[in-house]
Amino acid sequence: MPAQLSCIDAACGASFPIDDVLYACPRCGALLAVEYPGLRVDPAALKRTWRERRMSNAPLDQSGVWRYRELIPFLDFDRHAVATLREGNTPLLAAPRAAQYAGLDSLVFKHQGFNPTGSFKDNGMTCGASQALRLGLRRVACVSTGNTSASMAAYAAVAGLTAVIFLPHGNISFGKLAQALEYGALTLQVEANFDQILALVRGLAEKTGIYLLNSMNPFRLEGQKTIMVEMLDQRDWRVPDWVVVPGGNLGNVSAFGKGLRELLALGFIDRLPKLAVIQAAGSAPLYDYFHAAAKGEFRAVQNPETLATAIRIGDPVSWPKAMHEITISGGTVERVTEQEIADAKAVIGRCGIGCEPASAATVAGLRKLVAAGTVQPGADVVAVLTGNVLKDPDYIYRYHTGQLQTPSGVTIEPRFGNAPRVVPNDPDRIAAVLAETSAPGA
Ligand code: F0G
Repeated sequence: MPAQLSCIDAACGASFPIDDVLYACPRCGALLAVEYPGLRVDPAALKRTWRERRMSNAPLDQSGVWRYRELIPFLDFDRHAVATLREGNTPLLAAPRAAQYAGLDSLVFKHQGFNPTGSFKDNGMTCGASQALRLGLRRVACVSTGNTSASMAAYAAVAGLTAVIFLPHGNISFGKLAQALEYGALTLQVEANFDQILALVRGLAEKTGIYLLNSMNPFRLEGQKTIMVEMLDQRDWRVPDWVVVPGGNLGNVSAFGKGLRELLALGFIDRLPKLAVIQAAGSAPLYDYFHAAAKGEFRAVQNPETLATAIRIGDPVSWPKAMHEITISGGTVERVTEQEIADAKAVIGRCGIGCEPASAATVAGLRKLVAAGTVQPGADVVAVLTGNVLKDPDYIYRYHTGQLQTPSGVTIEPRFGNAPRVVPNDPDRIAAVLAETSAPGA
């Protein structure tokens, strides 16, 4: 079997069999990665094969993750079952209005909200759930700000596994909570924040033998790296200058960086795009660390706050991987305020695209990076929208009606607000309202 689990700490260098149940290196405690030593492929031939698979009706070919299975060969596809909902297959969407807002000539979104459960987590979860099946573990668990739990609940149901979900009570959007309930997961709302619950559940997993599917599970990241493979396939392998992504627990940017490095090493591309991670200002430990003059210890944010609850994380598990990938790519980290996220989100909505609050941090961050001269206006930029617009409708309604408040109680100005109007059941008065309103696009 060519696949193995490797410690990411080069000084340790330990490796373990692919079917060991491990979330961290038992020797030194560092994170693990799935590696394929000696993997050799023919890039030109595979690029053709992957295109041909788009016309196939076979489940593995229809999945936008497993279509690229030569790059994630940790399963034996003749023997092992795969839990798939035909994840991935998410579009690249041009968004001129958002580009203009950010100060760019053009901007393309890779919209992961088009996934089966509405977020990029599905790309990873198909791999995590399939690895659970391979290991013969019947129960899976995660701590989540909402999307991981929605995704895990769905994939556990598909795979016939029992899902146990731990959520920070009162701090996840209703859409995500509703998904977990609908997909049948045992849902525990803990009176603590994400970081505190993750520490709790890591201990519980070890004691109870429940398989943990948070993003420190390296198989999840194998699936998420295919987001970059699919993006490049859709661009006929033209490498963008920048890939911009919101950062929470920092698994996604770590997966992107790993995938891109592997594509470079295997000869699919000839350079790396720069990775830019955008954090919410109230939950921005990576921003602080990345820009600190002296890199001492990584300092967690004790009480992370943001209305973009998906990224309300103060002690991100994957920060060492993220730092590595961002640095190698020549990228950067930016942070954005609640008002900036809210406005960027409304602008993305006006493009007819829409996304959840955390995803909008990308456009808010780009606007700052362009203004600062870090990203050139003519740069070729792909921003990854991580979640669907319907994940958090409460936020949207509050913004457009002027009722959205930051965690510290400051009202967010609806600069792009579009409040509904109540009208009487009277054609003349409705006609009068229509006459006052300018035509769309005017
Ligand atoms: N965007 C959305 C919509 C998310 O749900 C998350 C993470 C992120 C961005 C950040 O990604 O953690 O890989 O840096 N949500 C996790 C969850 C933490 O539990 O659903 P990251």
